Amino acid sequence: MPKRPTDHPAEAASARNSSPAAKPASAIFPPSPDTPTPLLGNLTPSQFMRRYWQKKPLLIRQAIPHVEAPLSRDELFELADEDDVEARLITHFRNKWQLEHGPFAPDELPSLKRRAWTLLVQGVDLHDDRARALLDRFRFVPDARLDDLMISYATDGGGVGPHFDSYDVFLLQVKGKRRWRISAQKDLTLQPDLPLKVLQNFEAEQEWVLEPGDMLYLPPHIAHDGVAEGECMTCSIGFRAPSAGELTAQFLYHLAERGEENGRTGALYRDPQQPAVDRPAELPAALVERVGAILAEVRWNEQDIASFLGTYLSEPKPSVVFDPPQRPRNEARFISEASKFGVRLDRKTSLLYNRRFFFINGEKFPFDGSKKWLFDLADHRCLSAKRFVTLSHDSSVTARLHEWYRAGWIRMGELA
Ligand code: SIN
Ligand code: CO
Repeated sequence: MPKRPTDHPAEAASARNSSPAAKPASAIFPPSPDTPTPLLGNLTPSQFMRRYWQKKPLLIRQAIPHVEAPLSRDELFELADEDDVEARLITHFRNKWQLEHGPFAPDELPSLKRRAWTLLVQGVDLHDDRARALLDRFRFVPDARLDDLMISYATDGGGVGPHFDSYDVFLLQVKGKRRWRISAQKDLTLQPDLPLKVLQNFEAEQEWVLEPGDMLYLPPHIAHDGVAEGECMTCSIGFRAPSAGELTAQFLYHLAERGEENGRTGALYRDPQQPAVDRPAELPAALVERVGAILAEVRWNEQDIASFLGTYLSEPKPSVVFDPPQRPRNEARFISEASKFGVRLDRKTSLLYNRRFFFINGEKFPFDGSKKWLFDLADHRCLSAKRFVTLSHDSSVTARLHEWYRAGWIRMGELA
């Protein structure tokens, strides 16, 4: 296996000289593209995106100094016991890889004294505001690409085996230590007949022990293996990259729905010229031709593509359930309280926009009147009390926000 070319080493960056005070998430996002940040080893987000994103790995020592795990071990275990949470248990006992899917009651997890097991909990940002705040630090990448925050807990020797991912990932060590070994190897053959993706021939090229606050960025397809050194917790900030097949299928579905809305799909197939046949099983050539003509009528433009992407990418994951307020304020009370406390997007809400429309939780709306407040709410995920006071004179805005508040899409208060 040829070694990785020397012009592509995972570069190490240090943020040790920067201020150690961890700022609250509210003070740091959305991150400014041109301000150096310890999170990226004192690169600016623009520099990071140009030099590393989708290109090469980067090790960042003390990306988040004094980091704390967003959830304690026990809180993570509690989450893994919930029905609407995706949790996986990976064990490597007696040299055998095994995978089980949750939910896991606490007594279904192996003993904490047992070596070599790991619990992975996906989408923690949907269930916890601290996890959401951590994910928000990575919003120098568009929301349309940001996927979720996964937290793994492992006992000594635990890991998921050497593998590669198809997506970019930031691996942030939040508790204990983990030894990461990585390789840009071309051979990505997987071991056959295993319940998880484990590489057949992993040849590490670089290796580090990450301590709390350290972070490793990996672009897609870099082979990696992280093994816990003692009990540890790692946060994975993951990105979504839908495949061409998925996008095509979903776009065609979107077009079909649009056609239905416009009443264009109702006309039934007709064949007044169909002759009698003596080979009834044969597909009629005229049918193929006619359907070809129908399909050739399908048209789309850039707006259709943007509308599709906005609705598709802001669609909540199937497990998401919003929690509307139990005793919602009427609109007048809502306005008066929001004028004192501001409002924020619920951690599960996705709000995207383009020049003509905005898309919230899979629904599309045209802009009517001012757009600025919506851009601010979408980009900052909150509106300050002061900002709300100026908006409170516009009844179309307050009615819309009140409706979202009643649906549990926004909450009272600026940031959790
Ligand atoms: C882990 O946190 O144990 C695994 C994350 C990964 O390798 O992608
Ligand atoms: Co991985």
